[in-house]
Amino acid sequence: MSADPIIRLRGVTNAFGPQVVHDGLDLDVMRGEVLGIVGGSGTGKSVLLRTIAGLRRPQGGTIEIFGQDATTASGEARAALDRRMGVMFQDGALFSALTVRENVEVPMRAVRTLDRDTRRALADLKISLSGLPWFAGGKYPSELSGGMRKRAGLARALALDPEIVFLDEPTAGLDPIGATAFDELIKGLSRSLGLTVFLVTHDLDTLHATCDRIAVLAEKKVLVTGTMAEMLDVDHPWVREYFHGPRARAAQDTASEGGGQSPSAHGSGAAAQTAHRQGGTGQPDQPTHDTNAPHSGATDAPDRATPTGTQG
Ligand SMILES: Nc1ncnc2c1ncn2[C@@H]1O[C@H](COP(=O)(O)OP(=O)(O)OP(=O)(O)O)[C@@H](O)[C@H]1O
Ligand SMILES: [Mg+2]
Repeated sequence: MSADPIIRLRGVTNAFGPQVVHDGLDLDVMRGEVLGIVGGSGTGKSVLLRTIAGLRRPQGGTIEIFGQDATTASGEARAALDRRMGVMFQDGALFSALTVRENVEVPMRAVRTLDRDTRRALADLKISLSGLPWFAGGKYPSELSGGMRKRAGLARALALDPEIVFLDEPTAGLDPIGATAFDELIKGLSRSLGLTVFLVTHDLDTLHATCDRIAVLAEKKVLVTGTMAEMLDVDHPWVREYFHGPRARAAQDTASEGGGQSPSAHGSGAAAQTAHRQGGTGQPDQPTHDTNAPHSGATDAPDRATPTGTQG
């Protein structure tokens, strides 16, 4: 991680009619870090993700990405920005009428120099990078398990070798072993590819296992950012409840049993995490609405397309 912000938000405001979701929100995301975004349900985590990813135009404030003003970028400048970012939506948002491979190819279609065979080969590479079995590429979203759909969403987010990926609740609804494997995958991608990861999650195990820093969304802004250790000292009712509650203690115990390291899939850390996760830390997966999928994982313009009727 470097001290150089790759994303810089200042005074961002989002409202839906009279409902103000964000009011003067500031946030820096550093290059190469995994930043976990936490906050109560409905505090605007998904809206924030969609705003930064360019799928929603905020009512006020500035968003700089790669040093460029992202709120005013349009046309070719916006498309160039979009090609450097990948999004995995909370509900998967895959096209139900396309196979996994075709879904992963969708963002690639924006790159005219990629012919069909190259797209196909690249899609297969991303599918295997995301930990899906070889046969998944030819399947339709409805033929996949929930966990496989998550991985397919990740494969599509990685389609264009992005520098930043936005992940919305990637482990929600996964079985404990699957969730731990997903944590490993995210950490591994960040370390090996230098990816910057903007990770919305309720999952305390994921925060322990993958995040360099955490940002807490409350009171319509980013209330506090810092490491997990710093979160434990924050004197705010929601933050205290979240990071010191019974689930937090269990997640902390399993993280320390794992030696404070990102647990290995075969090591005791993973086993301990898995054992704890059987107690159920994540929140249940939301139903998928694949039919209303956007036309790409990363290349939608503000509010041009919405993966479901419920977000953004
Ligand atoms: N397109 C929309 N139109 C109107 N209101 C919206 C829209 N999208 C989000 N909201 C509202 O904005 C608020 C924040 O929603 P958001 O989906 O960002 O919450 P969240 O923090 O991601 O919650 P969760 O943890 O349950 O996913 C909610 O009150 C929601 O109803
Ligand atoms: Mg959400």
